[in-house]
Amino acid sequence: MNAQDASAARATNGADPTRMHAVSAETTDLVDLVLDYSRRRMLARDTPLDKPVSEFELDRLAGRAIGEAGIGAARALALFEHVLAPACITTDHPQYLSFIPTAPTKAATAFDLVVSASAVYGGSWLEGAGAVYAENEVLAWLAGEFGLPATAGGVFVQGGTLGNLSALVAAREHARFVLRTAGTDAPGRWKVVCSAEAHSSIASASRVMDVDVVPVAPGDDGMLRGDAVRAALEEHGASVFAVVATAGSTNFGIVDDVDSIAALKEEFDFWLHVDGAYGLAAMLSPLARDRFAGVEHADSVIVDPHKWLFAPFDACALIYRDPETGRRAHTQHAEYLDTLTETSEWSPSDYAAHLTRRARGLPLWFSLATYGGGAYRAAITSSIRLAQDIAREIESRDGLRLVRDPQLSVVVFEREGWSREDYGAWSARLLDDQRAFVTPSSHAGRPNTRFAIVNPTTTFDQLAGILDTM
Ligand SMILES: Cc1ncc(COP(=O)(O)O)c(C=O)c1O
Repeated sequence: MNAQDASAARATNGADPTRMHAVSAETTDLVDLVLDYSRRRMLARDTPLDKPVSEFELDRLAGRAIGEAGIGAARALALFEHVLAPACITTDHPQYLSFIPTAPTKAATAFDLVVSASAVYGGSWLEGAGAVYAENEVLAWLAGEFGLPATAGGVFVQGGTLGNLSALVAAREHARFVLRTAGTDAPGRWKVVCSAEAHSSIASASRVMDVDVVPVAPGDDGMLRGDAVRAALEEHGASVFAVVATAGSTNFGIVDDVDSIAALKEEFDFWLHVDGAYGLAAMLSPLARDRFAGVEHADSVIVDPHKWLFAPFDACALIYRDPETGRRAHTQHAEYLDTLTETSEWSPSDYAAHLTRRARGLPLWFSLATYGGGAYRAAITSSIRLAQDIAREIESRDGLRLVRDPQLSVVVFEREGWSREDYGAWSARLLDDQRAFVTPSSHAGRPNTRFAIVNPTTTFDQLAGILDTM
């Protein structure tokens, strides 16, 4: 035995190298424990909201779980169940109303376990044809709902931020391709036009891409319209490679006037990207569908199933009108990958800024297959109705003021005379009392708060009860 082998033997202490992977009494018990916990969590009717805990307190309660010898599955799981999980806010709780919540269906959550258990690789047709086929069925169904052509296609990526970035990279690549083909010089700086109320991920994507954002003021109602975009296009000319329309702003749930923006494509050359991370799901509801006229002209769209399409974290559906534009921009080339890229088979890795990927569209596929699109329409419609009902209730109460009429399922309102600190103290109290998670927000320098509703089990009485505490 040489010195290196001797040191390796000492370090591994003669441990069985297959212990963690073999099917044994130990691994069987471990799988049972984890499945039992998952079953209890998925079927619980009373999971508390919970709340964050300081690092000092977690240090005291959890300490260190990781050492050279493990503590065993039972102790590690108990630590998660009794210390770590209660220090995480329950994002699918019906009274979690902050940011954009999540509300995965039971089928989608349960199937997420299957995706993990199956060790599916979702990057290539060669390795994951069945999964890719199913994910593509979902993307085609969504594309149909959005009025995009049957040839549209794309990929599920981690989240809306990566979806927006990947779409804008494809847009700029397309603009470069068009200029190269015409023998025209590229502009000194590339620009992307969007509403001043667009999501922060557009600015983030622009920083990553080293392009400039041209923020355009929306109307007083928060909607970006074609006439304002026209002025920006006239001012910035061919340096604009993309216009982003927001289909459901994060703060207010407002849908830009996509139709009037899309109409400008007849006069100007730009890529129309629709950021529908939160709101595009509402196109499934007959109550909101009309608001999205023009989406059918988009060159790319995103919608996040982990927001209002009831899938677990994390998933964003990125769909290109012409998927070839996405493939040209994103396919990675390497000798070891030639076997994947030199075929005409559909490999999801080729359509965004990623390579290895989880087949994260499968939980949505399973849930859609289980319940059908009609169940989704009903669930989304119920939240839009509830938003309208609670907005009327807010208007009817003395001392409360609706900031804007809700278009989708975000309701923004003020308590007369309250400062930022008042909202902060109230919000902390609601969470301390385990009543609700509603955070302060602001608009045009005025503090306010908002209900973002995506969970079909949220009720009018729960929301009215929260108003009572103001
Ligand atoms: C309109 C919009 N776009 C993009 C994003 C970013 O999505 P993600 O958080 O999944 O990266 C969000 C997130 O709330 C959003 O509301």
